[in-house]
Amino acid sequence: MKEVPLIPADHWFFRNSLVLLKDPLAFVISNFEEYGDIYNVNSTIFTIYITANPEHIQEILVTNKKNYPKSDDYKVLKHSLGNGLLTSEGDFWKKQRRIIQPAFYKDSMNKLLDIMLASTLKAVEALKSKTQIELTDEMHFLTLDIVTQCLFGTELKTDSAKIQKAITVENEYLAGRIMKPLQAPFWVPTSKNRAYRKARSYSSSLILDIIKERQENPSEHHDLLSMLMGTEDADTGEKMSNQQLKDESITIFVAGHETTANALSWTFYLLSQHPEKLQLLQNEIDRVLQGSPPDFKSLRALHYTQMVLEESMRLYPPAWTIGRKVGCDTNMNGYEIKKDSRLILDVFTLHRHPDHWENPMAFEPERFEPEQKKQRHKYAYIPFGAGQRMCVGNSFAMMEMQVVLVLFLQHFKLTLAKDAPEVVPEPLITLRPKNGILMDISAR
Ligand code: HEM
Repeated sequence: MKEVPLIPADHWFFRNSLVLLKDPLAFVISNFEEYGDIYNVNSTIFTIYITANPEHIQEILVTNKKNYPKSDDYKVLKHSLGNGLLTSEGDFWKKQRRIIQPAFYKDSMNKLLDIMLASTLKAVEALKSKTQIELTDEMHFLTLDIVTQCLFGTELKTDSAKIQKAITVENEYLAGRIMKPLQAPFWVPTSKNRAYRKARSYSSSLILDIIKERQENPSEHHDLLSMLMGTEDADTGEKMSNQQLKDESITIFVAGHETTANALSWTFYLLSQHPEKLQLLQNEIDRVLQGSPPDFKSLRALHYTQMVLEESMRLYPPAWTIGRKVGCDTNMNGYEIKKDSRLILDVFTLHRHPDHWENPMAFEPERFEPEQKKQRHKYAYIPFGAGQRMCVGNSFAMMEMQVVLVLFLQHFKLTLAKDAPEVVPEPLITLRPKNGILMDISAR
């Protein structure tokens, strides 16, 4: 039996919890260099194993997935997302996934493409008068608008900046609770708890109002919500309760825009730093589309565009870790691991692992050429997770990111502003640019 290296404690009581929390990315980078791609973090409350090894990822997410349920971090997310697809488990999750999955099949995606195009062109028009933009904010507004229209078939009646703010308050609060579990319980009226509850009740009533309005005016719609409302349980004939409709909608609403907005922001940033790759991308877009907006068929021909997005999510994976726990004493690839230990799948390090990526820090979309992909370990690249819990919205996200990237590059030249704050990743629930990304924008 092999032994997982135990990293020495940094503090007699907090052990390594404080250094881990202070700068999680620096922590995983330096430990990987010193201890390799699996190590045991000496933490105050739990045994935590951090792994960036594709064989372990395969074991945990695919081969023996039953032994590794979602970690308790997902219980924290339930405070905002309820028992939706991301946070539920077991037979209940399986039933919900069967219902929701078809909404992301090719036929439905075809209809969603029109929404994505219209929404992005509206954003393009609005930005034509600007000379400088806070790119990350703009990407958040845009992806929020897209997911809202795809889900509810309508724009939200409320100011998007207000909704965005409520979601950010919820995300930051829950990320804080996940990273620092020793905190006052939710019910204690601290200022943070109160601000969180206010934001949560705002976003949740917004969604419930849309559901109620739809039930009162049940005209024909072709969006995800009508599909969820129309579905009946195959065994009991029961429809989803309003509570379940709300949980599934809010899950898609939150999971479906924050990740995509961050991936797009990192992509524009990387392109601004690599003009030669930007040129290759522009050449492809001009050659394939000849100035027209993309359609379902032309999107498939935009190979380099896809590769740029893939490479961007390699360097800056929006879901930079995936959490699981150990359901029973187990032998994981030769390591004896005790029940209830925590597992952090370190996607950030996995995607920069020198055994699997040549020149790992370089931005090289070419490494996603089909021939190169074939030669890599299947689980060395998992921006959307893997196995049965893999992201249900991955094709939606890829299509949306292609649309936004292409339309923006057809209309604008984007360069990092001279006075832009330093661009650094901030690892919260998703990996986002800490100080935003200030860009100069001009017509192309
Ligand atoms: C770049 C964009 C995105 C990234 C990087 C991403 C990443 C992920 C990852 C890593 C997981 C698996 C989590 C785990 O195994 O614990 C996941 C699950 C999920 N994602 Fe995404 N996602 C993206 C976009 C979207 C979009 C656009 C939607 C919806 C429209 C969405 C909805 C979901 C849902 C509902 C789940 C839970 C699936 C299940 O457990 O059955 N995501 N996502």
